[in-house]
Amino acid sequence: MTPRSASRRAVLSVATALATFLGLIAFAVPMTAQAANNYLVHGNVPRPEACNNHGTITPGSWITNGPCGYVMGTALAGQSFDVNDTSDKGFHFGRVRQGAANYCAWVLPSALDLSTQTSTADSCGSSTRTNLQNSRLAFGRDFDAAPHTGNGAIIVDVDPSACTGYYNYFSDSSFDSGSFRDPVNFPLSATGSGYRYSSKDRQAAMIRTPYNGETYWIFVPRSCIESQLAGHTLNNQDNPEAG
Ligand SMILES: *[C@@H]1O[C@H](CO)[C@@H](O)[C@H](O)[C@H]1NC(C)=O
Repeated sequence: MTPRSASRRAVLSVATALATFLGLIAFAVPMTAQAANNYLVHGNVPRPEACNNHGTITPGSWITNGPCGYVMGTALAGQSFDVNDTSDKGFHFGRVRQGAANYCAWVLPSALDLSTQTSTADSCGSSTRTNLQNSRLAFGRDFDAAPHTGNGAIIVDVDPSACTGYYNYFSDSSFDSGSFRDPVNFPLSATGSGYRYSSKDRQAAMIRTPYNGETYWIFVPRSCIESQLAGHTLNNQDNPEAG
């Protein structure tokens, strides 16, 4: 092999590599333009270790306003979710689909059954994501504690035993209103329950309540516990990072 043919061969192989590379790009761009994926949600999703939570969420995955954020509902096993983005710790941002109700929020690492992947249109914008994650007033009012405090401890004791609990309330990404959906199939405990916040329209109250050794985060109609909130100072400060 002469030096000339060797260098010619090198030029050719660079050209081939470049063509392959450009070919891949040309192929990849149209693919990723339609690249959102939808998955069904698992039952028995692990509580997020990244947020110092341990154990299992029997009915599905918490829906939250950010990784380690406030619980905003439960994506029940068999409901579906369009992934827009996945954080380095495995939290998924995207569209929660619950029949006619659908909105952008987060679900937990390992919430999705990856074997159920189907492709769907891109969904959920970065402005919804930033607003939801940075501003708790984007979805809630009358919190039990100031921003970045409380962390799910019981600050405002409530007895929800006369109420019906629901896993879900919010209907769309405005979080302006909702409808009570997915009733829980157990009686709510008179003891060991705490109020966390109300929906923006103050119709739904997010509470924690124990059942069968597990802490459930569910909605009750706020009217059902309204009189019990009367003696408490509730907090409407926004997060410092809201802007
Ligand atoms: C995620 O949201 C961004 C910002 O709106 C958008 O540009 C992108 O196409 C979305 N991606 C998917 C996979 O939904």
